[in-house]
Parts: sequence; C-alpha cells; structure tokens
Amino acid sequence: MSYRSAEWFGKKDKMGFIYRSWMKNQGIPEDMFDGRPVIGICNTWSELTPCNAHLRDIAEWVKRGVYEAGGFPLEFPIMSLGETLLKPTAMLFRNLASMDAEESIRGNPLDGIVLLTGCDKTTPSTMMGAASVDLPTLVVPGGPMLNGKYQGRDIGSGTAVWQLTDELKTGKISYDEYAHAESCMSRSPGHCMTMGTASTMACMAESLGMTLPGAAAIPATDSRRKVLAQLSGRRIVQMVKEDLKMSTVLTRKAFENAIKVNAAIGGSSNFIIHLTAIAGRIGVALNLQDFDNVGSKVPLLLNLMPSGRFLMEDFYYAGGLPIILKELQSILHLDTLTVNGKTHRENLERCHDCYNKDVIADYDTPIIKEAGIVVLKGNLALNGAVLKPSAATPALMKHTGRAVVFENIEDYHHRVDDPDLDIDETCVMVLKSVGPVGYPGMPEVGNMVLPKKLLDKGITDMVRISDGRMSGTAYGTVVLHVSPESAIGGNLALVENGDLIELNVKEKRIHLHVSDEELAQRRQHWKQPVPTADRGYANLYIKHVQQADKGADLDFLVGKSGARVLRDSH
Ligand code: FES
Ligand code: MG
Repeated sequence: MSYRSAEWFGKKDKMGFIYRSWMKNQGIPEDMFDGRPVIGICNTWSELTPCNAHLRDIAEWVKRGVYEAGGFPLEFPIMSLGETLLKPTAMLFRNLASMDAEESIRGNPLDGIVLLTGCDKTTPSTMMGAASVDLPTLVVPGGPMLNGKYQGRDIGSGTAVWQLTDELKTGKISYDEYAHAESCMSRSPGHCMTMGTASTMACMAESLGMTLPGAAAIPATDSRRKVLAQLSGRRIVQMVKEDLKMSTVLTRKAFENAIKVNAAIGGSSNFIIHLTAIAGRIGVALNLQDFDNVGSKVPLLLNLMPSGRFLMEDFYYAGGLPIILKELQSILHLDTLTVNGKTHRENLERCHDCYNKDVIADYDTPIIKEAGIVVLKGNLALNGAVLKPSAATPALMKHTGRAVVFENIEDYHHRVDDPDLDIDETCVMVLKSVGPVGYPGMPEVGNMVLPKKLLDKGITDMVRISDGRMSGTAYGTVVLHVSPESAIGGNLALVENGDLIELNVKEKRIHLHVSDEELAQRRQHWKQPVPTADRGYANLYIKHVQQADKGADLDFLVGKSGARVLRDSH
C-alpha cells in the first residue's frame, strides 16, 4: 500500500532528490523514506502560551510511539494561541491559526496527524485546520495544571481571579495577598484546571472520539499523560494503515454526543462557537438551535468550578470523562467510532466505576436536572444568544430590568465604578461592540465585573448582555454571543439607557420592550462604528468573519479542500 507521503519521498527523479536530500541534513537514515507512514506532530508549543509550554516534551513521547509502530514522526510548530498574553483576544486569531494548521498539513508529506493542544483556542484551531484536510488525525491534549492551592484551600484557574478581584475591590483582601495568590493558582505545567474552555475542549475532543479514551482529565504532570502521548503515537500509525479519516469519526452523531457531554460537565459557552466551526469544516450540518434541542435537557453531573466545587485533578481521580460517558449512556450514540478503532460502547466495556460521587454525580441524582446551554431568541437577538444556566443565578433567570448601556469596552471601563452611575442590582448591564466584527475578535468580556458600589452592597450577580463571549472559567447570569452583533447593526446596537429588557430562560426569550416602530426610527439615526483595522489580518477578519451563531469562522474557510496537492515545488 502506498501512502500520500510517497508522492514526495517515493519519487525516483529530481523531485525525489529534492524532497529527500534536504531532510537528510537532520541525520535521518535512508530507510525512513521507504514508504512507511509519515506522522506530522502539529505542535502548539510556545513559551508565550504557558498552558502549552510543556508540549515540546510531550512530543518526544508521541515520537517514541510512532517509531515503535514503524512510522516516521516529523514535528512542526504552528501559530500558538495563549489566552492570557495575546491582545486584543486570542479568539481573533483562531481562524488564522486554523489556516496555518491546514496549509502546513496539506502542503507537506504527511499521512497522519497528531494535534498537540492545550490552551483554549489551540484545540479548535488545529481541529478546524485538520478537518479541512481530513487525514487520519488524533488529538493529544496537554492536560490540566494541578489544583491551585492557596491558604489551605483549592483555588481554580480564572475562577479565583474573578473572585479575588471582587474581594480586592471591596477591600476584603490586601494587594499583597492578592499578588501571592498568583503563584498559588498556577503552580505546574498544564492548562486551566477549572472546567474552563481548555478543559472543555479536551472533553469535547474525547467525546467526539478524537482522543484515546480517558485522555481529557489526566493532569499535565502525571506520568500517564506521557503514556497517553506514547500510545497515541503508536495508534496514529495504525490509523494511517486503516485509512481512518477524521470525517469517519466526526459524524453528526459524534457532534450530538459532544453537545450532551458538554451539558453534563458544565462546559464552557465557548464550546458552541468552536464546535460549530469544526462542524462547518468537516461538513456536518449543525446550527445554534441544535445545541438547545440536543443539550438543554441534559443534567449536570460534574461538580467542577466555575459551576461547582472541584477541579480537574479531582475529576481525573474520580475516573475522568469515561465515567461521564458511562452515566450518559442511555442518551448517547454509543455506536460512534473513536480514534482507537472501537466504538464508545466497546470502550465503555472496560470502564471502571466512579471513585468519587461528590465529584461526578449519578445520572439519576444529578446536580442540576437540566443544565445544557440555552439558546435565547427575541428581538434583541434575532439569530440567537446563549446563556449557561449552570453558571447563572436561578432567581435571575426570569428577570425584567432597566438597561444600563455601555457603548464599548472603553466606555464600560470609564464609567462602571463611577459612584454617580445610575444603576442598581435590578438593572440589566448592556455592553455593545464586543462581537466578532466590533472588537474585533469577540473577546471574553461578557462577564463584566459589577460596579464597585454594588459589590460593596454584597451584590454578586446581575443580568448582563453583550455580543461578546465570557471566559469558560467565569460565572454569572450572562447573556452572550448576541447575534447579529451590534457593530453590524443588530438590534443590540439600538438599546438605550432606561429601556426595559426581559430575560426569560424557561421560555428561551430575550426581549427588548421597545416597539418595532421606535426601533426603526432609532435605526435611521444609528451610525455604524468605524472599523478598528484598515489593514492586515484584522482587516481580512472583519470583512469575512461570520456571526457567532455560525461559529465565527471566516466565510471562505468553511468546508474542506482535502489532502490533494497537484503540483510539485520545483
Ligand atoms: Fe490557557 Fe486557561 S489560560 S487554558
Ligand atoms: Mg478563555
């Protein structure tokens, strides 16, 4: 059997010479070019992405496995996206990184792909890019950090930042204590160890069948993370021999499984945007309403921050994602294939029992009965908005309040702590111009910190609405992803101070109590904000990005071009 890489290394002419000779400068023996499967290790390692800084090391274990199985591993870097440093938001570059992954995979002599991922955007970006090529592919997530430990208690990535910042703002802790918590929270390699977006993405990959069973929850520093990497290296070589393509694993049923699992784990709202974008690449029809239809009735089983108490280390010791799959088995499609060549059903036959029911509840006695992300519709979000009930305050899920409007993020920062700001806890905070086009890049600012004067009163949650996202580590009664966004003239743009806004989660409604006639009038006077970029990638992004309900992919990237390249390089 001849693999794709033979179109490079198998040639017996000038081109074969060129393709092999330069590679040999790395000390690669002749027999590596004998037609064996060539495995690309797509590495999002970067010291600027601290959550992925250990992936250089993990790659060595993948290589071991590839060699053991008779393959030829070749590791390559692609654009790495870190949540914490990258401005204005890593999300702006998710699609750019996906292009990097796609073209690096397609243009090179690779037969199978291992994606090394970790921090939030590094999983969806590489999966999107790989899906547009559709070779045999598996994901090796880098794993979460060990639990944060601060003053004798566990603190969670991100989640602790929001809590401690409120405490600092209200004078409950000193700045020295606050600063000390930094090193207590992030004390080992790995990604956020809350059920933030990175953990959510690792669980998404596992529930889709894109990782070996049990991959998501193993701590980054646990030796079994290395074993996983090595076994994944062995397995990808077999996947090439079986021609087990990504599209064979990523079926509509696999996506439905992922949606249900995300509800049961209290996964990040960002999941919706990323899963939609991946579906768009692989060619599976999936729309925003599917998330509500498939997932909103699924119970919450996992007691992890930000919705609950525990952290990823506890999840792993309790049994990890296989226990969730097992608990959900009556509602999952168990006949879906996973990258190990077996179905979820077959994999679950070897699944042990849950070791800690405080961390993972039984299906019949869940933490919350209906926990999946809810899709809201109404005149304020004609194409939809989302809310994560497990992170929200039950009492606020049916609420009508007076709008307090911030026109953009600068306006919010200038005025939110102004003692004269006309706001109380019954108001609805509205933030505009933080959508895909407006910011640009749809940042995680939707969980606006409450005004200081309300925090001082002991208020911990209020209804907040925006066209942005929120960090998967955050919480609150926050309506996100309003589509169409304000910067392109969605009705959110027309909200004025004092308007009444009604949120009704049960009825899945988000309504602005302003008549259609009045809205039409306001629209006549509305001026579109000046775009914030007139050149470069950001300009390309603004022109081509789709709205949140479509996954915020660039319009020309949807779909796939496959793995064929017709022309040689010389
Ligand atoms: Fe990288 Fe949270 S900041 S995973
Ligand atoms: Mg994030």
